[in-house]
Amino acid sequence: MLKSRIPIVAMPISPGDIFSGLRAFNAGGKRIQEFEDSFTGTLGVKYAVSAGSGKAAFYLILKSLAKLSDKKEVVLPAYTDAGLVLAIRQAGLKPVFCDIYPETFNLAASLLPEVISGNTLAVLAVHMFGLACEIDIIAQATKNKGVFVIEDCAQALGTRINGRMSGTIGDAGFYSFNRGKNLPTYSGGCIAVNSDELQQAIIAERELLDEPGIFLQAGLLFKLAGVSLAMNRLLYGLFYPVIAPFKSNSMPRSFAMLEYTDIQAAVGISLLRRLSEFSAARLANGLFLMEGLKGIDSIVLPKILPDTAPAFNRLPVVFKDTRLREKVHLQLWDEGIESSYMYPYALHQVYDLGYKENDFPNAVYLAGHILTLPVHPLVPRQNLEKIVEIVSGLC
Ligand SMILES: Cc1ncc(COP(=O)(O)O)c(C=O)c1O
Repeated sequence: MLKSRIPIVAMPISPGDIFSGLRAFNAGGKRIQEFEDSFTGTLGVKYAVSAGSGKAAFYLILKSLAKLSDKKEVVLPAYTDAGLVLAIRQAGLKPVFCDIYPETFNLAASLLPEVISGNTLAVLAVHMFGLACEIDIIAQATKNKGVFVIEDCAQALGTRINGRMSGTIGDAGFYSFNRGKNLPTYSGGCIAVNSDELQQAIIAERELLDEPGIFLQAGLLFKLAGVSLAMNRLLYGLFYPVIAPFKSNSMPRSFAMLEYTDIQAAVGISLLRRLSEFSAARLANGLFLMEGLKGIDSIVLPKILPDTAPAFNRLPVVFKDTRLREKVHLQLWDEGIESSYMYPYALHQVYDLGYKENDFPNAVYLAGHILTLPVHPLVPRQNLEKIVEIVSGLC
């Protein structure tokens, strides 16, 4: 029997959105320019510079900063997307890991004085899962040291921090538009920056990226149409065996250094118009689950920093007992709700940079105990209630 399934991440991409992508074929960069203009308006930032992925956007920032300073180290949390290490190396720089807080699941800003050295070029302030990290404390720790702050908002487009959009507070911020993100155009990324000098350096670096060829663009349109169909609960259930292999957690070895495309930008413009509505739904769904799950001893919910409004990409929950985590994961699946273990390893367990296994205990613990729950705009209220019922019942 055909079973409906709620995907772990999703966004409503309509046939109209796909059609606007189709019409943007060969638009000569016009839709990209329009998208960047809308993005600056939405974020309240001076410049937006698009790229083919979040990693490519991060790489462009790093290459540009490396022109302004000869320092070589980039500090990043030990629990985050492993592909970031590739971008740092591609830019000719050295990754340096820092542990996370067990309460916020984000970079432990209090450890920065131990990690920042005279050779630190930048600190990457990642807002994991859409939860804001302590960006003000990070900025304070780097102040007057010639260390730049880059915000990684790959999972946090729409998150607000003291009334400002995430990504607009540090020296530069970047976003990802890959298929699991808050504005999915299958792939893509964008940089937010206020400094004229940095924006010019970034634009010059972007000139060196490859332009996706006509076949790649056609493929992207096809994949975008596939993603929009897969958001449908019935189709997701039907096509899950086909989709599953693309969801593997295997570690990336390289990434494409591409520009964004007009096709994706056209879809992005349409999604951007509805961003505040989607962000409000992400926040409301996340808070609904947190309220329903609070007070359960065997799990840890993330701490939301005061004066922040997370546009949750997913809701991360730590299960103290990993067998319980598996039981919940399986029972949710039986009820047609997908949950995910997310990144199963801390970064020093993936890349051998000379660290010891127990150097980042909080990152290792999170990687081994996390389960992420769906809170995107397409999760109906009764499924959120079901999640609360299952977790409360088993824990
Ligand atoms: C926190 C974080 N940073 C960076 C990235 C990289 O983005 P992209 O996949 O668009 O290169 C991701 C993507 O999964 C991410 O989750």
